Formats: sequence, structure tokens, C-alpha cells
Amino acid sequence: MTNPPYPELVPTYPQLADAAARWRHHPQPGCLQGKTIVVTGSGAGIGATTAKTLACFGANVVLLGRSRKPLETVFDWIEAHTQTQPVIVPCDLENLSEEVAASLEASIRETYGGLSALVHNASMLGPKVPLALYPLAEWQQVMQTNITAPFVLTKALFPLLDSADDACVLNISSTVGREGRAYWGAYAASKFALEGFSQILADETEQAGRIRVYSINPGGTRTRMRAQAYPGENPASVPVAEAHMDLYLYLLAGGKDLPPTGSQLDARTWQP
Ligand SMILES: NC(=O)c1ccc[n+]([C@@H]2O[C@H](COP(=O)([O-])OP(=O)(O)OC[C@H]3O[C@@H](n4cnc5c(N)ncnc54)[C@H](OP(=O)(O)O)[C@@H]3O)[C@@H](O)[C@H]2O)c1
Repeated sequence: MTNPPYPELVPTYPQLADAAARWRHHPQPGCLQGKTIVVTGSGAGIGATTAKTLACFGANVVLLGRSRKPLETVFDWIEAHTQTQPVIVPCDLENLSEEVAASLEASIRETYGGLSALVHNASMLGPKVPLALYPLAEWQQVMQTNITAPFVLTKALFPLLDSADDACVLNISSTVGREGRAYWGAYAASKFALEGFSQILADETEQAGRIRVYSINPGGTRTRMRAQAYPGENPASVPVAEAHMDLYLYLLAGGKDLPPTGSQLDARTWQP
């Protein structure tokens, strides 16, 4: 590669360095220095990529996820390759109570003294069957994980976000959260709900101007969830998560010329 935009990433995170060569926006190295950011579902897929990327740009990342082992792998990678201070929070969002969320708020306050951003990334796909056949138990499981948990977490962490200088909430949505499609059941319904949640939170916080809220549709991305949704697809035909990270960094770093709070963005088509 000639003149990579972030030469320091070439030996440590070649996939990010490679994707960055095609980014539409090149944030300053260290643009997230001093920020603490919670990323849910950060053990795998887009969440793991987000956590590693944010740490590469200076953020202390709170790695929240269900399975401890993959979180430890991401934690070890961040410790080995960055100067940041990550922390692991094993948490099954399907069972997230207000008490557990409150204790997370207290430990973030104690460890980091504040919180800059929250990325609601974790979600589950659930079965792809017609609504007429959709099992109630799985409907509830998907709704709990994909929309109730982001509400509980946002509510608990709101005081920390509201007292930050320029806080940000990213709600990771989907194409089927913006236009309904047959057989996407609770997943699509939960993403429509997340879009609504995003707009409500943006409207409630706009006047105070301390929290920016966005929904992002990553579009087809090479992960386990994508393979589950499209088992016949060649994974190489969809982009890796690293391709989207310029948008995430652009929104999380803050600064001038940002989209208005409440905006819906598409990682494939956005322009800085
Ligand atoms: N990939 C795509 O093509 C695509 C397209 C549009 C939107 N998205 C959205 O992008 C986000 C990330 O998707 P992905 O493709 O990276 O998915 P993924 O590869 O399936 O990863 C999902 C992550 O969420 C975690 N998670 C799931 N249920 C959880 C729970 N109950 N509690 C805590 N963590 C839980 C998983 O943890 P475990 O490892 O423990 O399961 C995993 O780390 C999702 O919001 C998805 O809807 C993805």
C-alpha cells in the first residue's frame, strides 16, 4: 500500500489500515483521547471491530457482551496494541435489570469519572419466519435484547452522558428497521422501535445540546449475523466492518459540521 493514511496501524491492525485507505473521512489519530465509550456486543462482529477501532483512536472502551471469552480476546488485543484502559462487563442483555444497569453506571463513574458515548450495537436476529408462525418466546427474547435493553442501559447511563461535554449515542439499526420486509419478524420490528427510540431521545436532548443521537444502518457486513441471515451468500461479497469505521469515528469524535442530532445515517452512502 502506498502512503497509508495511518501507517502505525499497518503492522498492528492491517485490516483497519487497509479499509482506512478507502475511508471518506480521515479523523485525526488520537481524536478519541480522554473519552470513555460503552460498546455493547463488543466480543464479535461489528461490535468487536468498533471496540478495537475506538481504542486505536484513543478511547477507553467498556466492552459489554454476553460471552466472556470473546470479550477477553478483544480486551487482550486492545491492551497489547493501544495505550488505553478497556474494561470487560459480562452481561446478558436479555436479562438486564435496572439494578445491574445502575451498578454499571456506578462502576463507570468510579473507574473513569464519566462517560462520553454509548454504542447500542448488540442485537440478535431471531428466526426468519412469517409473523403467523413466529414463536412468542423468541419474539420476546429479540425485543428484550434489541430494544428494551438499550432503553434500560440509556436510562441508567443518562446522568453520566448528560454531564459530559459532548456526549453521543449511536443506535445500530438496519435496512429492515427503516422499511419492513417479509420474514424479518421481531428483528425488523425491534429495529423500527430503535429508530423511534433514537428520534425520541434526540428530541428530548436537542435543546440542552449536550447529547447527540444518531441511528446508523451498517448495511450488509461480513459477520456471523449476516451469514446467519444469508447462508447462501459468499461472505467476500459484502464489506468488512472496518469499512464503516470512518462514520463511527466521525460521529463519536465530535467537532464541526456534524449531522444534526436525530439523523439516520447509512454507512454505505453517507458523506462527511
Ligand atoms: N452484519 C450485518 O450485515 C448487519 C446489517 C445491518 C445491521 N446490523 C446490525 O449491526 C449490529 C452488529 O451486528 P453483527 O453483524 O456484528 O452481529 P454478530 O456478529 O451476531 O454480533 C452480535 C454481538 O452482539 C452480542 N449479543 C447478542 N445478544 C446479546 C445479549 N443478549 N447480550 C449481550 N450481547 C449480545 C453477541 O454476543 P455473543 O458473541 O455472546 O453472541 C455479539 O457479540 C447489530 O445491531 C445488527 O443488527 C448488522
